Amino acid sequence: MKYVWLDVDPGHDDATAIMLAVNLPDIQLLGVSTTHGNASSEYTALNAARCLFAFGSKPEDVRVFPGADQPLLFEAKHDPEIHGVDGLGGVEGLPALDDPRVLAFFEEDADGKRVRALEGMSRIIKQAWAKGTGHKVTVVSSGPMTNIALFFSVYPDFIEAVEEIVFMGGGVGVGNRSSVAEYNILCDPHSSQIVLNVPVKKSMVPLNVTHTAIVTKALHSLLLDPKVKVQSQDQTELPKPATPLRHTLSTLISFFAASYKSTFGFDSGPPLHDALTIAYVAKPELFNATRYRVDIELSGTHTVGETVVDMWKYRPCDDTWGRHGRNCLVAESLNVPGFFDLLLAAIAHCDSI
Ligand code: BDR
Ligand code: CA
Repeated sequence: MKYVWLDVDPGHDDATAIMLAVNLPDIQLLGVSTTHGNASSEYTALNAARCLFAFGSKPEDVRVFPGADQPLLFEAKHDPEIHGVDGLGGVEGLPALDDPRVLAFFEEDADGKRVRALEGMSRIIKQAWAKGTGHKVTVVSSGPMTNIALFFSVYPDFIEAVEEIVFMGGGVGVGNRSSVAEYNILCDPHSSQIVLNVPVKKSMVPLNVTHTAIVTKALHSLLLDPKVKVQSQDQTELPKPATPLRHTLSTLISFFAASYKSTFGFDSGPPLHDALTIAYVAKPELFNATRYRVDIELSGTHTVGETVVDMWKYRPCDDTWGRHGRNCLVAESLNVPGFFDLLLAAIAHCDSI
């Protein structure tokens, strides 16, 4: 069993990460924190709670803790072009932002203010680690890493409670928000570098791998109805959704596909970036990963936010995961059919709740 803390900015693909985290048997989700990113921190917090509700979680099991509103130095940049202004554009079937079942996922302090990410993380990770059985926690990040950087800066003692940090971000020689910068890293490069220096095992799931997990029309059809006979990879006729959950996921995929087509010209379908982080934790055998030194470009005119990966192991590094070591496993390939089997199994589980 993996005990997971999830930090997200939902976001269509973050929503799929939440669905997996709630519905895979190998994962126990301890809590969710949210960050600025795809939309404002107000929206991402509410969206995380809407997704938890829709995907079968309960407030007595998992709470949402709103986190950083801004990156450390840069101004927050949201991504309405890809995710809509509220972060989950076009997604049907979720409860409204102000639905009491959504608001129930937040804890309030004595002054009626929502308990924030660092407080929630420290309390819940401490409980998991100190339960006598001493569960180490895997921290998963699928947005800008401001909360994670602040958490380890403010609470360095928690390093021993953490098994691994797994993040979706970066690219090796590629970018989606500049020629070489990936969105999550570009939003807060300084936090990303702080996290890369934390002396804990880390794994990065970059664009090079996430862009192999494309939801083609054939996969979209299977997601709508697993009993359907798929005619071809790019079949135009989608079947009717077999359940309300599948309708919700289908509207999510359709909006995301349209964004990737209008922004990047992709015809084949959208990549499910963030879902891969949870798949990586649940089934690491689906991935090949190699350990390298990874740093972030903090100031280049054309390259700020680039993940600089020492592929030829040129830099002298020690065996630690921190500031002087080969600090990060970089996922290099994915068993794509294995990943989609996992996704479809999680959807089937969610349907049965
Ligand atoms: C990342 O940026 C966001 O748009 C997605 O949610 C994902 O986390 C991909 O670059
Ligand atoms: Ca994200």
